[in-house]
Amino acid sequence: MWGGRFDEPPDREFYRFQRSLGFDAALLPQEIAASRAWAAALDAAGILTSAESQAIRAALADIARAAQDDPAAVAASDAEDVHSFVESALIARLGELGAKLHTGRSRNEQVATDLRLYLRDAAREARAALAALLRSLVGLARCHESAVMPGLTHMQPAQPILFSHFALAHAEAFFRDAGRVADAARQADSCVLGSGALAGSAFPIDRAAIAKELAFTGITANSLDAVGDRDFAAAYLFALALVAAHLSRLAEDFILFASSAFGWLELPDAYSTGSSLMPQKKNPDCWELIRGKAGRVYAALFSLLTALKGLPSSYNRDLQEDKEPLFAAHHETLAMLRIAAGAVAATKVREDRMRAAAGPELLATEAADYLVRKGVPFRRAHEIAGQIVREAERAGKPWTQLPLDSLQRFSPLFSADLPASLTLEAALARRDVPGGTAPARVRQAIADAEARLAQLEAAA
Ligand code: ARG
Repeated sequence: MWGGRFDEPPDREFYRFQRSLGFDAALLPQEIAASRAWAAALDAAGILTSAESQAIRAALADIARAAQDDPAAVAASDAEDVHSFVESALIARLGELGAKLHTGRSRNEQVATDLRLYLRDAAREARAALAALLRSLVGLARCHESAVMPGLTHMQPAQPILFSHFALAHAEAFFRDAGRVADAARQADSCVLGSGALAGSAFPIDRAAIAKELAFTGITANSLDAVGDRDFAAAYLFALALVAAHLSRLAEDFILFASSAFGWLELPDAYSTGSSLMPQKKNPDCWELIRGKAGRVYAALFSLLTALKGLPSSYNRDLQEDKEPLFAAHHETLAMLRIAAGAVAATKVREDRMRAAAGPELLATEAADYLVRKGVPFRRAHEIAGQIVREAERAGKPWTQLPLDSLQRFSPLFSADLPASLTLEAALARRDVPGGTAPARVRQAIADAEARLAQLEAAA
């Protein structure tokens, strides 16, 4: 392919070292599509006759079919990369005519174009997988719409919330992820072809027509930038890294809440494993593995960012290091999302145990707020409620069971209407702001999430 100016063949170990066919064969469909568009552009530019261009396009389609039927034959090729593989397969089929396709074109722009095409499909898959997980989370919220759950901060009992509010909290993060994935796809949505090796093609190529054939929205603005830009890949990897972070937080909650200390969730058998030693065990391995694999996705982002740092302008071979982390992180994240979607959907929620765990300590804020409504400054009310809780702790009983007259020793403002405001239901109902856990608000939020999810599913 480039042997003309060399006296010696490459060192064998170096040749293997620099080859990329082993992993960039994954870009074969994109390479074929881009090459077909290039053949049409050479035709339009008067470099190929339309009969030649049609013969090339047909042969390229044939190469794609053959590769699909026999992937082992691609793997067995000693071509350097997917670009040279397709070109030599074309020459093997068409002889001299096949050798015309590379007119005015560079692998630097091909690889950048192929990767953008890959990312477009990958992003669509990721959004579909995010939508499936969101379906499970929103479904769980719907199913347990009014179940009460102890809300925690710092892992300490804080205030009562609805379980559905908790499920939707995780959903929000994945909705944002879907937006970030779409944004990365938008960044990839410009066609590079026509940029040449770095300076632009020397032939009158209709770049817009190529972009149209490949269903890109537009073309890149600067040839030098276009062949060296992998920002879209970094943006996608960052989006995946946050997906992995969110999955690992979801995993952590599910592991904790399914532990026997909590017992709020029951893990599905189908997503758990047993212990080789302890017969009683049912381990949350699906969630532990999801939590554990997040590091791989971060590693992919860091390795690409590191490859980009300090690179001179335009194409440099370092950029070949973009593909393996990108492919690996994509597949890893997709697998994690699918497993999470299945595991969430199959999880049993023990509403009875969550409610039983919602103790009176969750209502301490209500006592303070009660006094505030009677005119006590909040800081003072907070102090009084704190003293009551401490007193109850000393007496060894829940503070909500202290008789009214002993509460009145802390503040004369406590009166007969107090007990009614000290229920879980009353506490929930009072969080009646947009985004709050009041049942009516959460019902609205579920409907809202369902509508957004339907949109995401339609777009994905
Ligand atoms: N295999 C290369 C890559 O993945 C393709 C571009 C090679 N260009 C070059 N001038 N060596 O980046």
